Amino acid sequence: MQAMELLLNRNSHPKLTEPVPRGLALERIYQAALRAPDHAGLTPWRFIEFSGKGLDALGEIFAEAQLQQQPGTDIEELNRLRMMPYRAPLLIAVVARIQEHPKVPVSEQLLSAGCAAHALLLAAEAEGFAGIWRSGWLCFDPHVKASLKLAAQDELVGFIYLGTPAGRRKQLPERQLADFVERWV
Ligand SMILES: Cc1cc2nc3c(=O)[nH]c(=O)nc-3n(C[C@H](O)[C@H](O)[C@H](O)COP(=O)(O)O)c2cc1C
Repeated sequence: MQAMELLLNRNSHPKLTEPVPRGLALERIYQAALRAPDHAGLTPWRFIEFSGKGLDALGEIFAEAQLQQQPGTDIEELNRLRMMPYRAPLLIAVVARIQEHPKVPVSEQLLSAGCAAHALLLAAEAEGFAGIWRSGWLCFDPHVKASLKLAAQDELVGFIYLGTPAGRRKQLPERQLADFVERWV
């Protein structure tokens, strides 16, 4: 796929199924993320991959987080949370591994991790797959963060769900440059 075609047409897919990227394709997807812009070479990103029984384990963490927030949560809601990771057969949690640095504030490290997440999506499309970036309260929940062994200062910037699109491709929104671009000449 041509680079500009990819950049102009990347699209999120909420419904994802097998096959998922594996082997060399998955390695290339991660390598693309490792090319995220990175002030001072801090490499402030880590990736935690979930598939198979890993999806069960993550779903259980989500249910535990809910129970800690609301101990009376009913079983239907807990089961819904347990099933959340199954919205794709492969899920990658993108972690911003925050470090203290005299020239690189936390915001820049978060942005770098966001770029890595975007690169995962773009590279997945380039390899013939699709994905969607999801977050929600679970990304900010202390129990989820502790269970995934994030340090206190780290942030979970999102979950990248990956697979093969099921269903029709969404239409791309029409956007006018004039609404977003100001030119000083
Ligand atoms: C940081 C971040 C978090 C997001 N979290 C969610 C989410 O929890 N649920 C969701 O449906 N979309 C979420 N989105 C939006 C989708 O990933 C996607 O960008 C959106 O549906 C628009 O589709 P498009 O990427 O094809 O333009 C998030 C996007 C970002 C950048």
